[in-house]
Amino acid sequence: MLTQSEIKKPDYGVDAPGVVRVLVLVGLCLCVLALGLLIVFRLNALVIVLAAWVILWALVCLGEALAMLWTSRVGKLREIRRMLDCLVLSGDEEVLDVGCGRGMLLIEAARRLRSGHATGIDIWSERDQSGNSPQVTQENARLAGVAERVTVLTADARQLPFPSEHFDVIVSCLALHNIDGREERCQALREMLRVLKPGGRIAMLDFTHVKEYAQDLQTLGVDQLTLGRPSWRVFPPLRMLLARKLPVSEKSETAATTI
Ligand SMILES: C[S@@+](CC[C@H](N)C(=O)[O-])C[C@H]1O[C@@H](n2cnc3c(N)ncnc32)[C@H](O)[C@@H]1O
Repeated sequence: MLTQSEIKKPDYGVDAPGVVRVLVLVGLCLCVLALGLLIVFRLNALVIVLAAWVILWALVCLGEALAMLWTSRVGKLREIRRMLDCLVLSGDEEVLDVGCGRGMLLIEAARRLRSGHATGIDIWSERDQSGNSPQVTQENARLAGVAERVTVLTADARQLPFPSEHFDVIVSCLALHNIDGREERCQALREMLRVLKPGGRIAMLDFTHVKEYAQDLQTLGVDQLTLGRPSWRVFPPLRMLLARKLPVSEKSETAATTI
């Protein structure tokens, strides 16, 4: 019989692995520099102050790297669960995860479905997430026991390969900021709204451009828009955005509220 530690669990990788690597490298180089200063110039007051200043920056870099690793592995999952709690899924929804990566949000959504289905699309950038690939995401879904409720496809957020008004709920976490240029990100939002049913809901987490998503979504036609404050429980701090695509007959008259 397999012990608890031998049972394989989904592995969601590390976000922005290149940034984490650079932060660790710079942090370690600064530590060596501080040590070098102390060894070469001995313990005089000026050198001690300079070395302390260098060590401070080394700690900032290493701390940021650690915080990013913790967020990828632990903190982001908490924020994702909080966002899914806000959606209160009934279990029969068609859900789309835009930029699903290795599937943390996709699989958490699928866990909350019974007769519903979760589809994830991505372009599998390994710069944005380590070891990113559709095979890894499918294997994670299998390990989480939700493979039969999950489909993984290769597609760009700006050109979704789905008919209009197909999904009940669209979610996305830390994906859209990777698209360069406001008009290109707006095109992704336009596509998300196109494939969403009238009255369907959008839920997003990101650390930057979130106000811009809110403004563009309002222009494109949503109501019940709420924009969360930055959550400093994770690094970088994530903001949650929730909105509903206007039912056919309604016009957007709502202003964004802050939760
Ligand atoms: C930081 S990862 C986050 C992945 C996943 N949502 C999560 O939270 O674990 C960002 C993801 O967005 C994807 N991505 C970037 N640009 C995209 C685009 N234009 N269309 C679809 N996915 C994209 C990347 O390939 C990557 O998987």
